[in-house]
Amino acid sequence: MSRLRRDHALGPPFPGVVLPREQWTRTRVGLGAHGVKFDWLAVFGRDARRVVDLGCGNGRWLVHSALTRRDVDHVGVELVPPAVKLGSLRAGQRGLTNLKFAWGDATEFVLERVAPESLDEVHLYHPQPYYDPTKKARRQLTPAVLLAIWRGLRTGGTFVFQTDNTAFARYARKIVPALFEWRELPTPWPDAPAGRTLREIQARAKGLAIVRAEATKLALEPAEAERRASTLPEPDFDADRPAFARKRRSGGRPR
Ligand SMILES: C[S@@+](CC[C@H](N)C(=O)[O-])C[C@H]1O[C@@H](n2cnc3c(N)ncnc32)[C@H](O)[C@@H]1O
Repeated sequence: MSRLRRDHALGPPFPGVVLPREQWTRTRVGLGAHGVKFDWLAVFGRDARRVVDLGCGNGRWLVHSALTRRDVDHVGVELVPPAVKLGSLRAGQRGLTNLKFAWGDATEFVLERVAPESLDEVHLYHPQPYYDPTKKARRQLTPAVLLAIWRGLRTGGTFVFQTDNTAFARYARKIVPALFEWRELPTPWPDAPAGRTLREIQARAKGLAIVRAEATKLALEPAEAERRASTLPEPDFDADRPAFARKRRSGGRPR
C-alpha cells in the first residue's frame, strides 16, 4: 500500500505542516528499565509543564497540543507499534521538540514510572472497553490507576477522560469524583471542534454520543486519597454484552 493510502486508512490529515527534511526531529523515546522513573529533564532538556497521553493511538491529539503549546512537554505511551511509528513520524516531520512517543504499557507507566506531583495533565481518550469479558483486566481505568494519576499530578492538575462507550462513561462517573472534581463538557473541545483524536472523529462519524470530562485533582491528604481509592469498584462492568454476543454469533472479532 502506498504511504498516502496507508495514512488515509489511519485517519484524516494531521494538524500542522511537514517541514523540509533537514528540520525533522527525533520523537521516539524508550521507557528504559522497569520501575525506573521517567526522566523528563533528561529527555526534554528543560523543566516545563508536563502532559501524558495514556494509550495515545496515532498521537493526533498530542501533535495538535504540542504544536499549539510549545512551552509544554508531552509524552504519549502506546502499545501498538505502528501507531507509535506514525505518531512519532508526524511529530518529527513537524519539527516538534516538545513531544515524545514511547512504545509500552501506559498502565505500567502511570503506576511505576511517574514521580509524585510531577505532571500537569494526564489524558485518557477512548480507552478500549473490551467487550470480551475475559479481557476486562486490560481496562485502562481502575481504582489503582486513578490513584496513581492523582498522585502523579501536581496540585490543581488535570485528568482528561473521554469515551464513546456508555458503560465506561458510567464507570468513570462513579469512580473519578472520589479523587477529582469531575466536570463534563456539553460540547466538543473548543480547540478541536472536529475531534481531538482519531477515535473521537470516527465515533462522531458513527453518530455515537461522546462523554468528555476534565477533572481537577482534589486537595486531599495522601492517606485519605488511598482510603477513598480502596473503596472504589474494579471495572467489572459489562461494556455492551448484547453487541458483543451479536458480533460473536456472526463471527465478527470483538475487542
Ligand atoms: C480505542 S483506541 C483510542 C486511541 C486514541 N486514544 C484515540 O482516542 O484515538 C485505544 C488505544 O489504547 C491503546 N492501549 C490499550 N491498552 C493500553 C495500554 N495498557 N498501554 C498503552 N496503550 C494501550 C490501544 O493500543 C489503542 O491504541
